[in-house]
Amino acid sequence: YSYIYHKIRHFSGHITVPGDKSISHRALMFGAMALGKTSIKNLLMAHDVMHTKSAMRALGADIVAPESSTEFSIQGVGVGGFKEPENILDFGNAGTGSRLTMGLVAPYDFSTTFTGDASLCKRPMGRILTPLQQMGVKAFGRSGQRLPLTLVGAEDPVPIDYTCPVASAQVKSAILLAGLNCPGTTFVREKIKTRDHTEKMLKFFGADIETYFEDDHYVIALKGYPTLEAQNIIVPADPSSAAFPIVAAIITEDSQVTIENVLLNPERAGLFETLKDMGADIEITNQRQQGGEDIGDITARSSRLKGIDVPKERVSSMIDEFPILCVAAAVAEGTTSMRGLEELRVKESDRIHAMVGGLKKIGVHVKEFEDGMDILGGDIIGGRHIETFMDHRIAMSFLIAGAVAQNSVSIDNGAFIATSFPHFDTIMNMHGLHIEEIAA
Ligand code: S3P
Repeated sequence: YSYIYHKIRHFSGHITVPGDKSISHRALMFGAMALGKTSIKNLLMAHDVMHTKSAMRALGADIVAPESSTEFSIQGVGVGGFKEPENILDFGNAGTGSRLTMGLVAPYDFSTTFTGDASLCKRPMGRILTPLQQMGVKAFGRSGQRLPLTLVGAEDPVPIDYTCPVASAQVKSAILLAGLNCPGTTFVREKIKTRDHTEKMLKFFGADIETYFEDDHYVIALKGYPTLEAQNIIVPADPSSAAFPIVAAIITEDSQVTIENVLLNPERAGLFETLKDMGADIEITNQRQQGGEDIGDITARSSRLKGIDVPKERVSSMIDEFPILCVAAAVAEGTTSMRGLEELRVKESDRIHAMVGGLKKIGVHVKEFEDGMDILGGDIIGGRHIETFMDHRIAMSFLIAGAVAQNSVSIDNGAFIATSFPHFDTIMNMHGLHIEEIAA
């Protein structure tokens, strides 16, 4: 089914944004490995996370979820306690779920087969397999090291000292998760700091893990065979989902939204800094700590934006937010330049290609580069049907573009929005937007 989005004026109120996707995946995984009963409140009830939940069940964790609630409890199996899944693990659209689970099963003397939807089956897995092979895993996948693939876990896993060639929290996390069930200490070195939820949550569960800076790199050292103790986790609101109503409020007239309990990990908050640099009225209040993570409330108001050069060193802290930043840039005064975005080409879709193609269709002046784009702001004409390439964030971004376009914007498929932001249309419409489902 597809959606259509009409121009609006006011967008306002207190908006509830669902739980953070990165933290939800990890909470289920760490709960599955801890001793005792972990409780998780405000788990993201989206397709991506439900695939991880099924995978943890297949590996032996006992997960109790009262119907239609976001509260879960998990009886973990302990580090070293996973059993061979009886069937193929299907991760749907979820890169994080599949890649982190590859790390989890790597140090077990059994085989696991992974698959996913057409988008996930196109994505590169070599970045995960290379370090895991050094730890003793064998991998049998399709050409280009893509899913479906089978991992034969290491009989005698060895810890590694690995310098990540790409800035990727998924690669870092997969290695650390494998290191949990290895003897000795596993080291991961990254030149650019990526989101550190794995490190923070492992510490919270009692692992022996430390991070320091050495020779121009962030180093994470994790001791194998820790005892992880069950914890109570409250998942904060996802800043990557909050980004959509925040940008919607900034670019529409007479608008103001507040979103509470948003995760403000510095490695995730780059979009808010960038929008402020562009002149956006964004206020962060009530900053506090919860479960080892920074959280706070965000209020955003209608603002006049100007184009900027997005600092390259900020890219990794807003890696998932470029599609919606493109929409803000499309209505800003002047040019917004974004570079260093080569990783965007291997997300749920090639996001540079998807945004450039879609923006051009609705009348935005945009120039494509191999590692980014230049967007010249102005009026969005709209009135066109946009291809979203099975990518939730491309879909949501073009629906927000429709809110300020002169003519409605429609998208080819809204189904993938449910991978990260269930009920997006209902929640946004409650506050003044106008998204309508139309027959495909
Ligand atoms: C994620 C890491 C990022 C991000 C993804 C979630 C995570 O991917 O794009 O949405 O939870 O670790 P990369 O590690 O490929 O940058």
